[in-house]
Amino acid sequence: MDHRQAAARISELGGQINEHNQRYYVQDDPTISDAAYDRLLRELQELEARFPDLLAADSPSQRVGAPPLSTFSPFPHPTPMLSLANAFSAQELRDFDERLRKNLAAEEPIEYMAEAKLDGVALELNYRDGLLQAAATRGDGITGENVTHNARTIASVPLRLRADQNQQAPAEISVRGEVVILKRDFDALNQRQEQAGEKTFANPRNAAAGSLRQLDSRVTAARPLSAFMYAPAKALPGIKSQAQFLSLLSELGFAVNSFARVCQGIEEVIDTCRDLEQQRFDLPYEVDGLVVKVNRFDLQQGLGEISRSPRWAIAYKLPPVQETTVIRDIVVQVGRTGVLTPVAQLEPVQVGGVEVARATLHNQDEIDRKDIRVGDQVLIQRAGDVIPEVVQVVIEARSGQVPPYRLPTRCPVCQAEVNREEGEVALRCTNMNCPAQRSARIRHFAARSAMDIDGLGAKLIEQMVARDLLPNLAELYHLDKETLGNLDRMAEKSADNLLQALDKSKQCSLSRLLFALGIRHVGEHVSGLLAESLFSLAAIRSASAERLTAIDGVGPEVAQSLVHFFGQESNQQVIDGLLAAGVQPAEQSPAAPTAQQVLAGKTVVLTGSMQALDRRRAKTLIQSLGGHVSSSVSKKTDLLVAGAKAGSKLTKAQALGIEVLDEQAFLTLLREAGVNGLPQP
Ligand code: IVH
Repeated sequence: MDHRQAAARISELGGQINEHNQRYYVQDDPTISDAAYDRLLRELQELEARFPDLLAADSPSQRVGAPPLSTFSPFPHPTPMLSLANAFSAQELRDFDERLRKNLAAEEPIEYMAEAKLDGVALELNYRDGLLQAAATRGDGITGENVTHNARTIASVPLRLRADQNQQAPAEISVRGEVVILKRDFDALNQRQEQAGEKTFANPRNAAAGSLRQLDSRVTAARPLSAFMYAPAKALPGIKSQAQFLSLLSELGFAVNSFARVCQGIEEVIDTCRDLEQQRFDLPYEVDGLVVKVNRFDLQQGLGEISRSPRWAIAYKLPPVQETTVIRDIVVQVGRTGVLTPVAQLEPVQVGGVEVARATLHNQDEIDRKDIRVGDQVLIQRAGDVIPEVVQVVIEARSGQVPPYRLPTRCPVCQAEVNREEGEVALRCTNMNCPAQRSARIRHFAARSAMDIDGLGAKLIEQMVARDLLPNLAELYHLDKETLGNLDRMAEKSADNLLQALDKSKQCSLSRLLFALGIRHVGEHVSGLLAESLFSLAAIRSASAERLTAIDGVGPEVAQSLVHFFGQESNQQVIDGLLAAGVQPAEQSPAAPTAQQVLAGKTVVLTGSMQALDRRRAKTLIQSLGGHVSSSVSKKTDLLVAGAKAGSKLTKAQALGIEVLDEQAFLTLLREAGVNGLPQP
């Protein structure tokens, strides 16, 4: 095939694949099999590899992700991204309508557009001459994060717009919408995560938000994201209403929310709320309310906004989703510190489109307060992102003589005694060698925020603990191919991957290793403080309580726990074992030699208030990366780190065209430079 033929074929394939994408992701009406689709895509990729100059920016092959960025760049929104006021009842909707009618001196009922409120994460897309130029998250509403690399991987985000009715795409258009994970994709995603030994997501929204904010777009590409658009970021010439705008979006090839109705007057809106309450579970995505918008754009314009919300719109919030089911059993889980947590095993039910089969009962006090017993019919609730919980028992439905539930007096796993410490609600298994505790400790050790050992999943750990392959953490590093090969369901490739992951984890930061040890009261934050203040494992292992409490942020309870932990001979042996096996925590110094000097020679100004970092620490970190901290903004300033409520320094920096990072972006920069012990995003 020559160059000319290749160009023709590439263009043909691109057109076909785009059409199939549109049918599959936007219209939900595919016309070819997945295998046939894959063949087309592969042919395109091969041709583009052979003729690299023919690779177009909007080629559908470009959705697979690109090499990671080091940080997100800020993206100023063309107009602020506002938030919505809420209404919780029909009456509050009538009050809203009343206010608008007064304001507009309206005689006739107002025409509204009522749309399902998608429970995802907001996204803004900008197109020039029909091509996707940029995509951004909401950020603080004024400045978002540039996530173009990730948006490109979302199949329902058009890389090139289709022509509208008049056969042309607008020269420039910016639209806003929501990125979600469809309910049907969510369960499959979690299953895959679990099989891969990765952490599962609490709900589709968290999964969508986490997936959109990835520096490595290949991760985003592997997540089943969908985008539905619903608002213009700027007025569009000739478009007079939300209804008209939604049809334009469809014409241009965007996916739009299927639940959108024009209503004459607020009573029709209220009827629509009732309909949505009925239909919400049949919708393919999670919804948490109904967004009610004045349909006409000229009226919207006239109404304007008040305190960061438009006057012309309101969100009617749907009640949290509750469902009744039956508690089949109560099982007791034993955590890494020995805490016994009762978990209700439920008759599986769909709660708002997600299957719920378990609910945490927290502890004995909670069970007593709600009088929860095995066999009870219960009302359970799933509110947004929290773990499902039992709201109450349906006492009338209780039959027979089931006794009140009591947590066991012995550990359900190792039969050791349990005890309840003074002032605590939790019961604990007293046997440090309890297999459940050991498994949980290893899970914690391997977790992403700890030693980050890929492929060491819960099932595998349990199996190894049961076969006594891991008498202590250090033994992990002595596993070999043969031992792994003898385990159930362990393929050669997985064994190789695991050994590689273990090897890789040996080079870790001091704070990760400390956190991974699972010392009581020593979370990521405290681990970071310890590493930053004492610099070496040797110093931390031998520090006295006085030395520890001298660290800002370390209290007597934490110090006590550390001294106790390192006072145990067995713990010291485990640590020696880890070091002997080649685990090498990077020792820190205030100059953080392991970190890249990404701010070398730069003048940085800090302003506003930061949530996760205090100023002193931010300053030390900047210095350790080679930067210089100055207190005022001038032409010499290279970077402004702006926390919340930043004021005149921010304005000045913007006027001077100086790069501005918000706290999250700054943390990302630090993390990317290799700074340890930062709060997790
Ligand atoms: S219109 C002024 N329409 O809800 C805001 N928003 O609090 C106009 N959302 O962050 C937004 N579905 O991400 C609009 N159909 C819909 C929506 C929707 C979800 C989200 C949006 C925004 C939040 C508003």
